[in-house]
Amino acid sequence: MRTIVAGNWKMNTDRASAEALVDALVKATAPPAQVDVVIAPPFPFLALAVEKTRGTRIIVAAQNCHEAAHGAYTGEVSASMLKSIGVRACIVGHSERRQYFGESDAVIGQKIAALLAQDITPIFCCGERKDERESGRHFDVVTEQLKGALGTFTNEQLMQVVIAYEPVWAIGTGLTATAQQAQDMHAHIRACLHTHGGQVAATVPVLYGGSCKPDNAEGLFAMPDVNGGLIGGASLDAGQFLELIRIAGGEEWSRSRAG
Ligand code: PGA
Repeated sequence: MRTIVAGNWKMNTDRASAEALVDALVKATAPPAQVDVVIAPPFPFLALAVEKTRGTRIIVAAQNCHEAAHGAYTGEVSASMLKSIGVRACIVGHSERRQYFGESDAVIGQKIAALLAQDITPIFCCGERKDERESGRHFDVVTEQLKGALGTFTNEQLMQVVIAYEPVWAIGTGLTATAQQAQDMHAHIRACLHTHGGQVAATVPVLYGGSCKPDNAEGLFAMPDVNGGLIGGASLDAGQFLELIRIAGGEEWSRSRAG
């Protein structure tokens, strides 16, 4: 399976710093062949990111979209608008959207449907809060999120989705899940996908997110069910993000570095 390193810039950067960050990534050497690189700048900088990354292997993603195709939804952005400017992926159901904007799994499922209709790859986020882990309910919470948001899709549709497991207690806190905690949940997610058949389980990448940085990524990315990372803070620093891409390249990078 391919490895994905995706940068979620959240509500950070301005025009000049967004441009500088994209430029630094574009100028760097091409990512290892088996690694897909995704960046998710804020809405106002998506078009410039698409223009600047044209002809490179960097995929530009949005951080959110509205579930409706168009209409009287002041302040919202539709999947077809994203499509029309060349956006190829979109984060949905991030825990900050769930927490601050009240997004439910049902709405997140509708957003995924809207994205799939435009052939945009949804990066679906799931993950438990601290209290849910402490009370031992983390596997059940994630199972419910998967069912609630993805339950109605066909296998063909599910195979277009990327899942990001992001334990809420690890996001922006500096607390990372241990590689084993991540692996255990990723294996659980893979088992949930298996209920839709082996092909779905073998096709859908499951990324880890939550304080993933160059100093902990090696252990996380080495886990058999971890197919890369969704990176917040460290994606705002070109050097750190490039290092994460190199780590995701694994052996190939080590060999080429040694050679
Ligand atoms: P973080 O954010 O890497 O800053 O913890 C990850 C995310 O929220 O996607």
